[in-house]
Amino acid sequence: MHKLENSSPVIAIVGLGYVGLPLAVEFAKKYQTIGFDINQARIKELRSGTDSTLEVEQQALQAVKQLSYTADPDELRQANVYIVTVPTPIDQYKQPDLTLLIKASKLLGKVISEDDVVIYESTVYPGATEEVCAPILEKESGLKYKVNIMGKGQKPKAKSNVTVHYRGMLLNGVVFDSSYDSDEPIKFNLKRVIKGWTEGLQLMPEGSVFVFLIPPELAYGDKGTAGIPPNSTLLFEVELYDIK
Ligand SMILES: NC(=O)c1ccc[n+]([C@@H]2O[C@H](COP(=O)([O-])OP(=O)(O)OC[C@H]3O[C@@H](n4cnc5c(N)ncnc54)[C@H](O)[C@@H]3O)[C@@H](O)[C@H]2O)c1
Repeated sequence: MHKLENSSPVIAIVGLGYVGLPLAVEFAKKYQTIGFDINQARIKELRSGTDSTLEVEQQALQAVKQLSYTADPDELRQANVYIVTVPTPIDQYKQPDLTLLIKASKLLGKVISEDDVVIYESTVYPGATEEVCAPILEKESGLKYKVNIMGKGQKPKAKSNVTVHYRGMLLNGVVFDSSYDSDEPIKFNLKRVIKGWTEGLQLMPEGSVFVFLIPPELAYGDKGTAGIPPNSTLLFEVELYDIK
């Protein structure tokens, strides 16, 4: 909650139904808010200023300025507080069906960063957040990144050739590789590098400088390689100059 008090948080509401949309509208009166839903048709109608659930009146919906709608998970990365309001129906045996909650948690695990806050507003049985949702968030949160400079160019594809300057470090600060040593940017094909690079570089518009925190599963795993011990998380600063 530190962030809510000390800076301008960006709130994401995940699931824009009876509960999520009114919540998003309320938060957007004070904070920049992103409304996310997997249902494209729902996003389309909300962008056009209509709520078919009739929870929020058209006038109120159209008056709200700091609320954007999206079905693109990548846009959720800008947020730092996430509120999950997806349905949790009960099945034919009156058991709670957590399928959609699990799906939303998997998606959030991939986009959240350290210090972000995830709040579950969906109705669940006691213990479900700790026992079901939190482990998914932890497991899924793979690649983390910070934007130092956001470029304006195209983003590379999984098989693009990219020209970059980069510095790779272990978490103890030891630099294991750096293109700055040779003073010459280096060209790579993104299908021939560690997974964290293939995934991460595709998020960078040309001209960007990002810092990546890459877990071992997306780097050299439990074997390691020269200069990189087994199970190492790697820190890379990458400047993307050119895409071919
Ligand atoms: N409706 C109520 O009065 C009420 C009151 C208290 C609590 N709740 C609880 O709040 C939760 C949401 O209820 P609701 O009535 O708003 O549901 P709803 O069915 O109106 O809306 C849910 C929205 O979530 C979207 N969604 C589904 N899976 C998603 C995913 N993986 N990622 C993103 N969006 C997804 C759906 O497309 C839909 O737009 C439920 O757990 C419910 O039990 C509801």
